[in-house]
Amino acid sequence: MRPFLYINLAALALAADPWINEPDTGLEAYLYSTNYTKSSQPLLKDIRGVPDFDWAAEQSLGLQQYSFYRTAAAGEWSYRNNLDVWSKVKFRVRMLNDVSKVNETLPTTFLGYNFSAPIFIAPAARAGYGDERGELNFVDAAANENILYTAALYASKTIEELGAQKKMHNDTLNGPLATFQQIYTNANLSVTWDAMKRAEAQGAKAFVWTIDAPGTATRHRAARYDTTNANAVTSPLTWDLYDQIRNHTSLPVIPKGISTVEDALLAIEKGAKAIYISNHGGRQLDHSPSPLEIAYEIYRNAPQVFEQVDVMADSGVRYGSDVLKLLALGVKMVGMGRPFMYANCYGLEGVTKLIQIMKTELAADAGQAGVADLKKISRNLINARALDDTVFLMDA
Ligand SMILES: Cc1cc2nc3c(=O)[nH]c(=O)nc-3n(C[C@H](O)[C@H](O)[C@H](O)COP(=O)(O)O)c2cc1C
Repeated sequence: MRPFLYINLAALALAADPWINEPDTGLEAYLYSTNYTKSSQPLLKDIRGVPDFDWAAEQSLGLQQYSFYRTAAAGEWSYRNNLDVWSKVKFRVRMLNDVSKVNETLPTTFLGYNFSAPIFIAPAARAGYGDERGELNFVDAAANENILYTAALYASKTIEELGAQKKMHNDTLNGPLATFQQIYTNANLSVTWDAMKRAEAQGAKAFVWTIDAPGTATRHRAARYDTTNANAVTSPLTWDLYDQIRNHTSLPVIPKGISTVEDALLAIEKGAKAIYISNHGGRQLDHSPSPLEIAYEIYRNAPQVFEQVDVMADSGVRYGSDVLKLLALGVKMVGMGRPFMYANCYGLEGVTKLIQIMKTELAADAGQAGVADLKKISRNLINARALDDTVFLMDA
C-alpha cells in the first residue's frame, strides 16, 4: 500500500472517533522508564490520578476479579459514554474572581449530615477482592476523611462488622460517622426487613434502595467468569414497594437509579427526601444515560427538583472537573464505584489517597474555573447546550 493510502486510512479511523479504553495518563511510560516489573502493582506514590488506579488494579487483581469490577452491560456503550460525555460540556470560566479560599468551601451537608467534601463512596459489592479488609477500609477512610460512605448490601463484610468498625471511630469524630445502607429488595420481604433492621441497629442514617435492577443485566465480560449477577433481581420493583419500604422505617429511603425527570418528580411526589441519579456505572442497561445527561434533563425540565430534595449522583466520575459539572447543575453529592474498588487494592492507604486526589482536584479545578465558593456555584459555570440534542425536553 502506498504511504498516502495509509495516511488516508489513519485519517478515516480518527474521523470515526475511536474510543480509547483508558486515557493515557503517562503512568505506563513512566513505570517502564523505572525498574518496574511487568504486571506488578505500581507503587502507590506513582498513582497521580483516579484512572491510574484502574490500570494498577488490572495488574494486581486476577482476571475474574478485575472483570467483575470492570464489567458493564452489553456493548458497554453506556460505560464508555459515562466516561466520554463530560467533554461535551465546557466550562464558562470567569476571570479575576478571588478564588484563594475555595478549598475552605468544600464541606457540605446531605440530609442534614456534615461532610468534608461533596464526594462519596458508592455502594459496590465484594470489596474483598481488592483487600482482605474489604469494606473496613471504606469505613476507616470515610471516617478519617469525613466523607459519606454508602455500604452495599452484598458487601464482603457483614452489616455488623461494618457497624463495629464505625463505632471504633466514634471517639475521634464529633458524633457517630454518618453512613447510608444500600438495599436490594428480596421477593421474601422479611429478608429485606431483617437487613434494614440490622442496618438501623448499626446506626445507618438512610437507606439507598436500588431501583435500576428490575431485570437481569447482560454482562458479557463478567459472564465469561461466571460472576455476572452479584445483584440478581429477586423481587418485582414498583412504587408501591417504595411505599412499603418507607412505611417500614423512619429513615429516609433514597431511590438509586433515577434516570429521567419523570421519575425524579414521582419520587418527590412519593415523599423521597433525596434522590440518587445513576446508571449503575453502565452495568444494567446499555444506552442508559450518564449522570450528566440525567441531571441536565432534570435541570432543563424541572430545575426545582434540586431545591426540593438533596440529589446525589454517580457513574463515570473520575476527575474533580466531573464533580464540578454535576455540582453546577445542582447535584449535592457525587460518588464513585469502580475507582474505590480499584484503590482498595492498596488497602486503606489507597482508598484515602483516592479521596484526597478528588478533594485536591475539585478545589483546584473550581479555582481554575473562577469559582470562589462551591456553595454558591453558578449554573452559568457550564455550557451544556451540546446535550440538548441528547436529552429529553418536555416542552420541545
Ligand atoms: C463491582 C461493582 C459492584 C456494584 N455493586 C452494586 C450493588 O451491590 N448495589 C448497587 O446499588 N450498585 C452497585 N454498583 C454500582 C455502583 O453503586 C455505582 O452506581 C457505579 O459503580 C458508579 O459508576 P462508576 O463505577 O463508573 O463510578 C456496583 C458497581 C461495581 C463497579
